[in-house]
Amino acid sequence: MSDWPKYDMDFLNGRRQRRLRRTGWMRDLVRETTLTPADFILPMFVIDGQNERTPIKSMPGVDRLSVDLAVKAAKEAAAAGIPALALFPNTPEHLRNENGSEAYNPDNLMCRALRAIKDAVPEIGLIADVALDEYSSDGQDGLVRNGEILNDETVAAMVRSALVQAEAGADIIAPSDMMDGRVAAIRLELDEAGYDHVAIMAYSAKFASAFYGPFREAVGSGQHLLGDKKTYQMDFANSDEALREVAQDIDEGADMVMVKPGMPYLDIVRRVRDSFNVPVYVYQVSGEYSMIRFASEAGAIDGEAAMMESLWAFKRAGAKGILTYFALEAARKLGA
Ligand code: PBG
Repeated sequence: MSDWPKYDMDFLNGRRQRRLRRTGWMRDLVRETTLTPADFILPMFVIDGQNERTPIKSMPGVDRLSVDLAVKAAKEAAAAGIPALALFPNTPEHLRNENGSEAYNPDNLMCRALRAIKDAVPEIGLIADVALDEYSSDGQDGLVRNGEILNDETVAAMVRSALVQAEAGADIIAPSDMMDGRVAAIRLELDEAGYDHVAIMAYSAKFASAFYGPFREAVGSGQHLLGDKKTYQMDFANSDEALREVAQDIDEGADMVMVKPGMPYLDIVRRVRDSFNVPVYVYQVSGEYSMIRFASEAGAIDGEAAMMESLWAFKRAGAKGILTYFALEAARKLGA
């Protein structure tokens, strides 16, 4: 190769971009964004029982945990420097009904997990998902009548759900249902009940996505779900609409907003970040996690490198934080 003739590069006038990439220390010196354990939120699936851990077939490496094991995992997350957890219950089958009424049972699995973790690991923040799919026999995020997803009735149920979660120790209420007006209603009733310190992280730009598949196995809603969620979750062809959703949620009182899924929606993360002055979060959802895991297991990609690259991409796009099933692994790799 050394006897290959050199191309005459006079036209560069000495301008060479590779100068800043020559060495590790130089790349460290010029890196534009950072990634630390404090950027991560760890989603966790909880189940009934004691010392129970059940694998999720479509999400290798992620297990559902009984409350006692969730407490242990919360300790590990805190030790790794992760600031917050996002909890999701896999509600026992016999407690699911068409009203999703288990959602506002003050002693439901979610509330028991919130109480136990708050008690044992007070230094970690607790984010409670509010939506009916984790409790209803329809697998839809809202109440269903004659095949239609009811908005205002669903909001009333969600408010009750948020209140029991706040009472159980949730620090952040995260409505993931995409009903209209739920942020304002939850804010109003939280304040009314004395929970004005509880924050709202709105799933504001949540798209009707194929990437939620493994999550629906994890919480046990997939087997119930008939049809899709396109009358409330966003059309993936749209971007301006995401800004309207975010604007309305902020107007209704959201403290933080979220874009979901993550990797196929980095353009939305960037637009939201540039347009609004609230912290923006992004959810690297179950299907994104599984793609990287399965591709890695098949030997197609270096899973750890792809994990870090994907997480960094969210920061570059402007996210303040990332909900990711890789949180613990990535935090440990980065060092607390
Ligand atoms: C339910 C909810 C979903 C996710 C978070 N909350 C699934 C859905 O909307 O169908 C998806 C998370 C993931 O895929 O990791 N309201």
